[in-house]
Parts: sequence; structure tokens; C-alpha cells
Amino acid sequence: MKKKTIKDLSDADVRGKRALVRVDFNVPLDNGRVSDDTRIRAALPTIQALLDRGARVILLSHLGRPKGKPEVKYSLEPVAHRLTELLPAQKITFIETTDTDEAMKATHDPNAHVVLLENTRFLGGEETNDERLARGLSQLGDFYVNDAFGSAHRAHASTEGVAHYLKPAVAGLLMERELEYLGGALENPKQPFVAVLGGAKVSGKVDVIERLLPKVDKLLIGGAMACTFFKAMGLETGKSLVEADRVAMAKDLLARAGDKLLLPVDAMVSSGLDAAQSAHAVARDAIPPHEAMFDIGPKSAAAFAEAIMGAKTVIWNGPMGVFETKPFDAGTRAVAEAMAKATKTGATTIVGGGDSAAAVAEMKLEDAMSHVSTGGGASLEFLEGKVLPGVAALDDR
Ligand code: 3PG
Repeated sequence: MKKKTIKDLSDADVRGKRALVRVDFNVPLDNGRVSDDTRIRAALPTIQALLDRGARVILLSHLGRPKGKPEVKYSLEPVAHRLTELLPAQKITFIETTDTDEAMKATHDPNAHVVLLENTRFLGGEETNDERLARGLSQLGDFYVNDAFGSAHRAHASTEGVAHYLKPAVAGLLMERELEYLGGALENPKQPFVAVLGGAKVSGKVDVIERLLPKVDKLLIGGAMACTFFKAMGLETGKSLVEADRVAMAKDLLARAGDKLLLPVDAMVSSGLDAAQSAHAVARDAIPPHEAMFDIGPKSAAAFAEAIMGAKTVIWNGPMGVFETKPFDAGTRAVAEAMAKATKTGATTIVGGGDSAAAVAEMKLEDAMSHVSTGGGASLEFLEGKVLPGVAALDDR
């Protein structure tokens, strides 16, 4: 079901009104400063569009996982500073509370055009989706916009509950873009459609594998999770991470997937991450008993790159190795670079959030992709076919 977006709102809905906008400003901090502002920048088009149409914008977000009470280290104050730098023409009013008279007053101050309220998870009822809190939040705006795709898998008061009490309740531009790209890949991919999955554990990706397998032309599996498949093939995996309780499942998948499934043919191994200087490539059936796989090998990287460059739709979730530690970044780098090339030749390339998005950002290849999702858990759940409560609660078109 298509959801209404801010573009569906009439001028009468917007002009002079208070837009209560849930954003996902759950960003990493380093020494009291925002160290990666991707999610803040991603919300700017919605904020700007609402300001341009004469609304005042009241922003809600969580940061980190405080347990229902204020904790200085989870304050959104550093985010307010970064937002001020990103929107130099606007004064950002930061309110250190979400549910008091002060917050309400700020939302009615005609001179406060952009108001950021303190961390929603400082409020007891946020994560329990408390009805009273949701109703209270609904008083802070005249209409509701959810632009927090990254938090849409959470049924919390500010992401889900409030949408029942404050109408219209519509998607922001980032939310719309995320749903269009991720949904488009699932529903109507241009073929060949290639999915690349990585990361440490196959257990976290079972549902997405099951969901993608019937739709894709090729499913490329890298990362430590490939080792569970190696085990299922009867290969020696040395000290590599293997999920013993998933080996049978991997065996079943191998039997069902046929030649759709592309596994690494070689691996970069070493005795440990602290012995990265002794890393070397071996065939997948020659992983030494005292070593572990920390990246796909060069032959696999080349094969993956070739499959990616021949695709018209590529979706990627999860790194190919421990990309934070050189030389185990090579496989992840090869996937990102192949996707960048595929984009140039007209493919739609989508990077799921979390680690793969961080890797792409580090390689400065974000602009070379059709879309880099801001959602980690949310994009995975969406690809698994789950209903995201933050989306479901919005008004249907
Ligand atoms: C995320 O970073 O994935 C979202 O902001 C959700 O955060 P959470 O996992 O703490 O709910």
C-alpha cells in the first residue's frame, strides 16, 4: 500500500503549521561531536521542503539506547550543533525536554522555525509505545511526518503511536526514497538482479536469503557467514567463525539454490586479526587448521565484481570481510567499486545501511551508488518482507 508523503499535503495543510517530524538522528558521536552526519544530511531535504512551504519544523529523534531517563552522553545537543552548521540560514532551537510546557511553548513560538527536542528515549513511554505519551507528543504538531526510515522497524511512541493521534500522518522525502528504492528492488527489479550478502553470521540473514532467493538471478555470499556454507560443503574451516547450529540449514540452502548461489572460491586468512601482516590467500578447500578467514580472496572478489557489473539491479547488505583492518578490506572494496561501475552503466545499485553503508562512506563512493540506505536494522527487516510499524501507521494514499 502506497503511503502519503509531504508532497500530497495541500498548502493549507502546511503553511503556518507546526510539522512534527520524526527523524533518525541516531548518529555516532566522538568527544561530544557528531562523527558521521550522514543521517542528519539525509533529513535536510524534508526539513527544507517544509520550511519552504511555510511550516515550522519540530524535530523528534532518539540517540543511542538510554533506558527511559536522561543521560548526558545520549543528549542530542551535539546534533543540534551540527544541524546549525548544516542549516546556516536557520536558527535551531534546542529544547532539553520533550514533554514539558517549555517544549509546547517553543512549538508555538512564531520565531522558532526549527526546533529540536531532546532524545525521545529519555521518556519512559517511548519504547513501550505508551498511549499517553503518544497523545502528548501529538500535541506538539499540527501534522506528523515520519522521515526516520532507520527507526521505522521500531513500534515506539514517536515512530508509530503518535501517527494514530496526529493527522495527517505522512512520509518524508527520505522515507519515500528509501521505500521506493528498497521496495522497487523487491517488487520490480530490472534483470539480471544480483544480491550480495555478507557479515559475520548467517543466522541474522536467513530470512533475507529466503526472501531474495526466488527473486534474484545470483546471490553472492561473502563475509564470515560464507564459512558456515564451507562447513556444510564438508570443507576445513580452521579457526574461522562457523555457526555450528546453522550448518544443516546452509546445506539445505545449497541444495535448493543450485547455481544461483555464488560462494567465495578463495579466502584471505591469517592466524588472527592482530596478525594481519601475515595474511595470505588460499583456496577455500585449503584453509589451514590454525588460521581463520577474514575476507574473501582475490579470485572471489574478481568473480563477485564480474557478476555485479553484469547486473541491472544490485542490492548489497553486509561486508565481505573485516574491512576496518587492512588488508581484509579488499573484498568489500571490490564489491563497492564494482557497484560504482555498474551504476555508471545504468544499473540500479542499492546499499543496505549499517556496515556496508559505513564502508561505502569510508571509500567516498556514496554518490556513485543509486541509493545508500540510512537504515541498518530497518533495511534488513524491510528486505526480509516484514511490515515496518513506522511505515504501516502512516496514512494510505
Ligand atoms: C538504528 O541505528 O538502526 C536506528 O536508529 C534504530 O536504533 P535502535 O536499534 O537503537 O532501535
